[in-house]
Amino acid sequence: MKRNKNYDNLEQSYLFSTIAKKVNEYTTKNPDKKVIRLGIGDVTKPLCKAVIDAMHKAVDEMGIQETFRGYGPEQGYDFLRTAVQGYYKKHNVDLDLDEIFISDGAKSDLGNILDLFDKDNTVLVPDPVYPVYVDTNKMAGRVVNFINANGGNDFLPLPDRSVKADIIYVCSPNNPTGSAYNRVQLKEWVDYANSMQAIILFDSAYECFIESEDIPHSIYEIKNAKTCAIEFCSLSKTAGFTGTRCGYTVVPKELGKLNKMWLRRQTTKFNGVPYIVQRGAEAVFTEEGQSEIDVNLNYYKKNAKLISQTLKECGIWHVGGKHSPYIWLKCPNDMKSWEFFDYLLENAQIVGTPGAGFGKNGEGYFRLTSFGSYENTAEAMERIKKLFA
Ligand code: MLT
Repeated sequence: MKRNKNYDNLEQSYLFSTIAKKVNEYTTKNPDKKVIRLGIGDVTKPLCKAVIDAMHKAVDEMGIQETFRGYGPEQGYDFLRTAVQGYYKKHNVDLDLDEIFISDGAKSDLGNILDLFDKDNTVLVPDPVYPVYVDTNKMAGRVVNFINANGGNDFLPLPDRSVKADIIYVCSPNNPTGSAYNRVQLKEWVDYANSMQAIILFDSAYECFIESEDIPHSIYEIKNAKTCAIEFCSLSKTAGFTGTRCGYTVVPKELGKLNKMWLRRQTTKFNGVPYIVQRGAEAVFTEEGQSEIDVNLNYYKKNAKLISQTLKECGIWHVGGKHSPYIWLKCPNDMKSWEFFDYLLENAQIVGTPGAGFGKNGEGYFRLTSFGSYENTAEAMERIKKLFA
């Protein structure tokens, strides 16, 4: 047996596991302190009524001989793919059903998609970045090159045509920075990828937070994107499915063999998302579901505004908070990211995510999320004001 030595090139533990461990240690030592968690981007509002009703109905169907279902199609039931197709249509994107693949979330598919690519591809990733893009490539032994996102480009780096790339990661609205590309900027990435015959792996997990017509929800709103992009989306943040697990990946047929290869990969290594979950997901796209999830999204958006407003009052530089549940701030008093993490936990019992955990350009920055309850977010902001206003 020869184990995969590429794992030796990874950080010892996944960022959010490290944070959870540190917070656990703190709460064990300080059981009487109220810790407010604005770290991992995990939702707190429950699933909406339309989803729950649909799931209850599906549970009942599973207990009746005539409506019981065993294995489903690996790429998802037609009813859900049709609902996703309709959602794209609202953004003026036409997709065929066999270009849509239902998944158990964007994170899994972002890692799994690498099965389709040779080890020797050159990978280009923005820094700071969602660690999954980097780690999954490192696990496969690929060398990862970085493009700098920083205060100078508002954390929205644009392609440098002198740099060659085969696989390019773009996440907009961005995790971790919350910044979002407008149509003109995203077109630069599409043109660059097409000119290099490269592929963009476009993570649109946060598209539901977009509040402006200038910012595309899907990369396919950009001309010629179907010849260079695979898109990953998720119901985790959109509809509170972080624990329920459901997302979708779009592999356009214009990408040639990749569409059939992905189907081959999924039929071999995946048995599909549970029927009950897919029925719940279908309900998200109904009129009722859309208006119910909007209530929750507006709740998080209100939190984001409050965080952004508080940071402004404290004179703390930040981006995000608009079109995104994330707020990316410069650590006050030139503190390093992990130093600020400890400071905030010790002095205000607030948990955030150290920017350094997302790459070298994240050093000196910090991420807060708007996914907490309004009461906790407001209390956290009062604590921040006491320290910095
Ligand atoms: C985050 O906090 O960055 C997200 O929860 C990551 C994820 O969706 O996996």
